[in-house]
Amino acid sequence: MGKVQLLALAATFLAAVSYGRSQAIQTTPSSSSPGLQSQQVKKGASLFQQNCAFCHGRDAAGGETGPDLTRSRLVAQDFSGDKISAVVRNGRPEKGMPPFTLSDTDISDLVAFIHARRMEATLHPGGRRGVAVADLQTGNAAAGKQYFQGAGGCSKCHSPTGDLAGIASRYKGLRLEERMLYPRGVKKRITVTLPSGKKLTGTLAYLDEFTVGMRDSDGMYRSWPTRAVRYSIDSPVDAHVALFPKYTDDDIHNLMAYIQTLK
Ligand code: HEC
Ligand code: HEC
Repeated sequence: MGKVQLLALAATFLAAVSYGRSQAIQTTPSSSSPGLQSQQVKKGASLFQQNCAFCHGRDAAGGETGPDLTRSRLVAQDFSGDKISAVVRNGRPEKGMPPFTLSDTDISDLVAFIHARRMEATLHPGGRRGVAVADLQTGNAAAGKQYFQGAGGCSKCHSPTGDLAGIASRYKGLRLEERMLYPRGVKKRITVTLPSGKKLTGTLAYLDEFTVGMRDSDGMYRSWPTRAVRYSIDSPVDAHVALFPKYTDDDIHNLMAYIQTLK
């Protein structure tokens, strides 16, 4: 790597670090209740750091695996959360955006933060400040292993010599991190109980407010009105979403260092 590139990387890194330290985000005072608004933005900032930052970047300007929200058209067209909240609640699982179960208050706080960030980015256009790829190499593998077996609870579902053996040969770098944070395209199991009491199991194929659909073991698609049946969905991979608020940046870097040894 050339010196210029190194300097650029160092600058990106410093920008990210100094941003992380100064979490007080200024908003343009609104005519109604500036106090309430900045309170919301502060709470939203901490929720964002816990749940969203490692994909969308600390400042929402784009991260390792998530797009820049400060330049998103959807965010620009959002009014008080009318667009953003649906994306956050439903996710876009096939595209790497997980669904979140958050309270209305949490979502409004997040929305306030995202809009504050958008405002800030419009006032001070300064380019993307995502996490550098070099960050992937900064963790401590031994600490990552300990987290895997202990606090992280990963061993409940995974084994480094079983399902995860060779994972670092199958995926590299950001792809690997993406698999670790939020594996996509994983089929969910569903059990439907018919009014007669008969139970059917298969993979979840469709679900909205009104209709639930599954594919049975013969590959047949079947669906019912949600009100007519009872159903339960089993999706162990959801554990990954539940883990988001628990990870610190160090946990993620350490885990990555460890997972990268599973070649
Ligand atoms: C595991 C990574 C990941 C996490 C965690 C994550 N996102 Fe996303 N998000 C994505 C990806 C990838 C997309 C782009 C999906 C697509 O291409 O349609 C996205 C899209 C979005 C969009 C739509 C942007 C647009 O222009 O269409 C919003 C809004 C959003 N995310 C908000 C959030 C919020 C708020 C959180 C935290 C509660 C969050 N995301 C957590 C990965 C993530
Ligand atoms: C409740 C169970 C559960 C827990 C706990 C869990 N995972 Fe997972 N994980 C899954 C499932 C299910 C998948 C999807 C496997 C698949 O692709 O078929 C998965 C996928 C992965 C993958 C990608 C595997 C692949 O082959 O693409 C990695 C890496 C991973 N998890 C790491 C972790 C780490 C690290 C932790 C702890 C911080 C963790 N998981 C905690 C259930 C779990």
